[in-house]
Amino acid sequence: MTDRIKVLIVDDIPETRDHLTKLLGFESDIDVVGAAASGAEAVTMAVALVPDVVLMDINMPDMDGIATTELLAVKCPTAAVVMMSVQGEADYLRRSMLAGAREFLVKPFSSDELTASIRQVWARERDKQSRITAPIAAAAAGASTASTSGEPGIVVAIFSPKGGVGRTTIAVNLAVAAASLGGRRVALMDASFQFGDVGVLLNLNPKNKSIADLANQLEAGEPDELDSYVINHSSGVRVLLAPSSPEQAELITAAHARRVVERLRAENDLVVVDCPSSFNDATLGILDSADLILTLLSLEITSIKNMRLFLEVAEQLGYGAGKIRLVLNRADSTLGIRVADVEHSIGRKVDHTIVSDGRSVVYALNRGVPFFLSNREAQVSQDVLRLATAVVGTAPATASTASAAAESKTKDKAAAKKSLFAWR
Ligand SMILES: Nc1ncnc2c1ncn2[C@@H]1O[C@H](COP(=O)(O)OP(=O)(O)O)[C@@H](O)[C@H]1O
Ligand SMILES: [Mg+2]
Repeated sequence: MTDRIKVLIVDDIPETRDHLTKLLGFESDIDVVGAAASGAEAVTMAVALVPDVVLMDINMPDMDGIATTELLAVKCPTAAVVMMSVQGEADYLRRSMLAGAREFLVKPFSSDELTASIRQVWARERDKQSRITAPIAAAAAGASTASTSGEPGIVVAIFSPKGGVGRTTIAVNLAVAAASLGGRRVALMDASFQFGDVGVLLNLNPKNKSIADLANQLEAGEPDELDSYVINHSSGVRVLLAPSSPEQAELITAAHARRVVERLRAENDLVVVDCPSSFNDATLGILDSADLILTLLSLEITSIKNMRLFLEVAEQLGYGAGKIRLVLNRADSTLGIRVADVEHSIGRKVDHTIVSDGRSVVYALNRGVPFFLSNREAQVSQDVLRLATAVVGTAPATASTASAAAESKTKDKAAAKKSLFAWR
């Protein structure tokens, strides 16, 4: 990629092509390298011109924008597609996403929106390229520092495509339970940058340093040690808090998040990450880095629907079946949906279950003491302990398997080249 962003325009209407070409002509950092009138022409031109960004009309006769995007993913995988549509329906968005588009603009859009999208998509793509090559470079350099085992630890992302299902609750108690097993350095990272709750559940002072301070430091260079950013909780868990205000969250880029995860991995045996439910680039980077994604669901129709969509997307991203584990929280709720119904609907077995225990959970939350510490005998604590035992039973990656994993990941990426939107 050069410094100027090479853009290919694809639209069957000549006036639209001219209009977009003129509009982008005013931008000093953007070069319109071509304009194609059909999907077939777009593929030929993309192969010849290797654009960084393709502006793609969704409705075209013959091959539509979605089919063209799918083909481009194979023929010109480095081109990032920005889909343009007069419709903003969820189905269009979803199909574009699964085809590999990176952004979705609903016509009419302003020139500011257009140029901002192009720049964002391009920046993300560059970031992604560096993320793909960085782990290989690090593995090649033999760069791994001290966890207890001397080997890089495992990263476990706690994720759910829907909020309020218990990610933070499980993340905090899982980390504490894992630390209680002894012999391991356990870190907990709050990746809900905007509205992180980890500090509340652990009763930590929000004036403590957070990932925002660490991100700031990363701009200046790699810090020697993380001790001044990480808080030692009495349970033994080392906590990296989310920023105390949402404005600070905006300063944390996907690249920062990725670097922080890898740094924590190098220094700990287990890194538990409490992820937000939004699919943005930072979340995607964390899910990519994770060895395990504990995907939480509840016995609610909306949770199940979103889970189906997530599993579909995870497959497109090349995540193997073993990387994702389904954790059903509040599994004993009697709300009319049975576990078997859920499994049937999503076409997968639930791997772990956690019972519902409003008394222990909410009491613990309000006191700022994890229920695993205050009410160890409760069934909910036992369930979390079983989950922790299963998770830490996953052997830490050795240097050689780590680099093999990074290589195969790169291959997956290049082949599939499918990605999520940043859902804004
Ligand atoms: N197993 C459980 N039993 C009872 N209440 C729970 C359980 N897990 C979570 N909760 C409650 O559900 C709410 C949402 O949990 P939280 O961890 O904040 O979800 P998320 O991080 O996914 O938004 C909280 O009020 C929490 O106390
Ligand atoms: Mg949360």
